[in-house]
Amino acid sequence: MPSIKKMSLNAELQKLVQNIGEVGHYLWERGWAEKNAGNISIEVTDLIEKRGQGFDNYQKVKREISEPLCGGRCFLITASGSRMRELRECSQESIIMLHICEELDGYHVLWGGEGIGANPTTEFASHLKLHSFLFENNPSQKAIVHTHPSHLIALTHIELYCEEKAINRLLWSMHPELKMFLPEGVGLAPYRCPGTEELAEVTLTALQEHRIVLWEKHGCLATGADVMEAFDFIDMINKAAQIFLLGRCAGYEVQGLTESQIKELKDRFGVA
Ligand code: 13P
Ligand code: ZN
Repeated sequence: MPSIKKMSLNAELQKLVQNIGEVGHYLWERGWAEKNAGNISIEVTDLIEKRGQGFDNYQKVKREISEPLCGGRCFLITASGSRMRELRECSQESIIMLHICEELDGYHVLWGGEGIGANPTTEFASHLKLHSFLFENNPSQKAIVHTHPSHLIALTHIELYCEEKAINRLLWSMHPELKMFLPEGVGLAPYRCPGTEELAEVTLTALQEHRIVLWEKHGCLATGADVMEAFDFIDMINKAAQIFLLGRCAGYEVQGLTESQIKELKDRFGVA
């Protein structure tokens, strides 16, 4: 029986674990992280010093991995059932650093995962599929954050806005800076059961042209160079949704920027 070894984190990895904890706390403070809602991952292969020397002394968890490009890569990822509000204080229980076996028959637990029955998030399939896409298409994007932003979810329950063009038009019109920072807008993935390959598939389709994808009637998922950037995207678009709903809840028609005001932003800042 192989010994169960754990790796000690170097300063860069410690910083990333700290950032995950910070973002977890932001999500909780925003009211987007009820119970165990949300999950976070970062690809960290280049930061693992013992890379290439084998991981046989670490605990191996058998599990079929359906993303060949993830073989041999390492990730920090939140554990299924972990609470965002506890990530900072209980990082070793709530976060796992794992190495995906080259044979794609499981992963090694390098660090963390010390909670009872700690497994990676139930959205593991979506995270790995999206990381695979990012390796090939946008390698500087290393982080993925999934959360349940209340105002955005509310919008995807309104039929009129459950359409990519309509929801982007609405969001851009609620805040002039959104067009500058997120000119491509948000992708919209149709509802699929949480934790499934089907959800991973529709997310991947929507991600081809976007850095942030709304999961209809569930939440959203953003990619970023780091977890802070991914959080910023979600924060910005939820703010736009919130402004719209605040006006509506106060009983007003919400005016929004006009088409010509949006066009002026496009022309002035050279965005699409
Ligand atoms: P996990 O606790 O398994 O990450 O699930 C939370 C979630 O939001 C699933 O979509
Ligand atoms: Zn979720």
